[in-house]
Amino acid sequence: MLVASFTTLAHAQSLDVLHWWTSAGEKRAVDQLVQQLDRRGLVWNDAAIPGGGGMAAVKVLKGRVLAGDPPDVAQVIGRTLTDWSDLGLVLPLDDVAQRGRWKSTMFPVVLQVVSHGGRVVAAPLGVHRINTLFYNQALWTRLKLQAPRSWDDVAQAAAALRRAGVTPLAWSDEPWQVATVFETLLLAEGGASLYAELAAAQRPQAWADARVLRALARLRWLRQLAGDAPGEPRWTDTTRQLYRGEAGMLIMGDWASGELMAWGAQAGRDYACAPVPDTADMHLYSVDTLAMLQSRRKRDALQEKLADIVTQPAVQLAYNQAKGSVPVRTDIDAAQLDDCARDSWQTLAHPGSRLVPSIAHRMAADESTKDALADALHRFVTNASQSPERAQERLVAIVRGAAR
Ligand code: BGC
Repeated sequence: MLVASFTTLAHAQSLDVLHWWTSAGEKRAVDQLVQQLDRRGLVWNDAAIPGGGGMAAVKVLKGRVLAGDPPDVAQVIGRTLTDWSDLGLVLPLDDVAQRGRWKSTMFPVVLQVVSHGGRVVAAPLGVHRINTLFYNQALWTRLKLQAPRSWDDVAQAAAALRRAGVTPLAWSDEPWQVATVFETLLLAEGGASLYAELAAAQRPQAWADARVLRALARLRWLRQLAGDAPGEPRWTDTTRQLYRGEAGMLIMGDWASGELMAWGAQAGRDYACAPVPDTADMHLYSVDTLAMLQSRRKRDALQEKLADIVTQPAVQLAYNQAKGSVPVRTDIDAAQLDDCARDSWQTLAHPGSRLVPSIAHRMAADESTKDALADALHRFVTNASQSPERAQERLVAIVRGAAR
């Protein structure tokens, strides 16, 4: 039966992929992968779960794994990836990595993120930079503002924007977004060495450092720049405020760049990026990775094929140009990247740069510690009567509990 064999073939050549890329920019990036895989005879069966930062997707994924019905491929990143690989849930990709010469073509930090226990455990897709300050170029030109390189620049720009009736900073109290902003402030106030220590969480007392207190005070200041009660808009809505010129600035991972591009904006023309003040030459990274999950359905060959395709130079470029992240490979022509991505890629490539992992995006802390920290920060920003000292005590206690 011709039809049956076609159907069997189609099924045999498809993989279920669970992820949380559901915004306009994220979908555009996923489409690049879908098309490239399709050209090579592999069908991507989409199992997307909406929700910024993967808050819902990770819960659904856990449920499916516990029920013995994991998707073939999933966006499993950072600590979740290494924890799951310890549990034997993830297919090692050493052969693919060796054939593709990942050791010599990928950024060392990327290799480190996908390696665990001496094995390669995921296919890396792109590197996001979290310490990114976006600003609206039309407003900057109209108000004759200078690029915001320091906190003083930010304060001056904020005053001018306010006078012009524009909200200085787009903001959301959604816990993961507050945690995303806060970690950039930890890096700005603490520098890379203290930040690395905070992220490693081996010495909870490091969280009692005076620089953490300064970061909390800075967080409160930034939130005030956003006006009263900003609520908890989704990250796509705060990005839209920037896009429309309703807000002048936004601190967000550079997936916001992917979103702006999907709406027709262009880096350098309609919006610009600067490293968050005091974090130039530092890269606070979150590496997106696809893990191949083990199940009774033996899909190894197809899973390896997918891992191989998504890490090819042309696919890397197409995907990352849409996503706002940068390729995981060093053998890319940086001239192909826009202003925002080029600075990120060059910072990654420069030997003098300091690279530190995102706590809010699972590169350092486990899921429950990351969530507890985000909740504490959310409580701090939404309750003006809570002192920074009290908030710091909470952070220390959470990290101490996790280190036990
Ligand atoms: C992911 C990005 C995603 C962003 C917003 C981050 O945790 O790494 O790929 O675009 O969340 O949902």
